[in-house]
Amino acid sequence: MDTIKQTKTSKIGVVFGGSYGIGEATAKLLIEGGTEVTIVGRNAERLASAAERIGGNVQTAVANALDRDAVLKVFEATGPVDTVVICVAGVMAIGMFKDLNLDLLRTSLEEKTIAQLQVAQVAAHHMKANGSITFVTAGSAGSAIPTAAGPGAVSGALESLIPTLALELAPIRVNAVSPGLIDTSLWDFMADETRKSFLSNHAANLAVGRIGQAIDVAEVIELVTRCGFITGSIYQVDGGSHLTT
Ligand SMILES: NC(=O)c1ccc[n+]([C@@H]2O[C@H](COP(=O)([O-])OP(=O)(O)OC[C@H]3O[C@@H](n4cnc5c(N)ncnc54)[C@H](OP(=O)(O)O)[C@@H]3O)[C@@H](O)[C@H]2O)c1
Repeated sequence: MDTIKQTKTSKIGVVFGGSYGIGEATAKLLIEGGTEVTIVGRNAERLASAAERIGGNVQTAVANALDRDAVLKVFEATGPVDTVVICVAGVMAIGMFKDLNLDLLRTSLEEKTIAQLQVAQVAAHHMKANGSITFVTAGSAGSAIPTAAGPGAVSGALESLIPTLALELAPIRVNAVSPGLIDTSLWDFMADETRKSFLSNHAANLAVGRIGQAIDVAEVIELVTRCGFITGSIYQVDGGSHLTT
């Protein structure tokens, strides 16, 4: 009888924006599932701390998503990649439209929309044929939330590209996961008490009755990267926020 020798080759993953929050939680899940992950961010110390919290088969790479050469170096170092998750955030242009600071919105578009697209564009040249790219957008895209026109425009631009990119880059799969309000360091610019009441007021209005955690979003991102039959899709992970906004 012939012996069938099975070798298990690890998948290679890159999580851009992996030093905190949703990216860090996603990197941990991917690693637990057997993927070798490189987490990327702009600060070596923050990455080292995240790598310690994550444990397992994790590498770190310092790169600003807005620096094309730096992004390229990340993918040259990893070699062909199975899984790319793009969690890069930026300054948020929050405010009622009549008085919205358009310079801030321009910066926000650069720091999130263009940054995420640049990572995806470079990654697209370094993916395995059955790989996947997952953008992380926001529930403000396509919702009616006063003061959130700016964030809605930033993530809405990304979401509008998903179907076309899924066809252009096929068989690479392209999806987005769209979080509602999640308790991460994204809100650290607020004073502690303000942040706590902002999050708890939001939780009180959600169907699930609690605020979202990074792991809630990470679980959906991990599923989207793993399921080879999902492409061109956008998944809302918002505790039911879209039911009332
Ligand atoms: N938290 C929420 O309530 C919420 C809601 C809707 C959507 N989202 C979206 O979810 C994604 C993840 O957010 P999060 O809450 O996990 O935010 P977070 O905790 O602030 O993490 C953002 C990550 O991105 C990295 N990063 C930021 N700019 C970068 C750049 N130019 N190049 C490379 N890395 C960069 C940060 O590391 P360094 O600063 O060290 O570079 C960090 O690792 C973002 O796209 C955010 O807009 C979040």
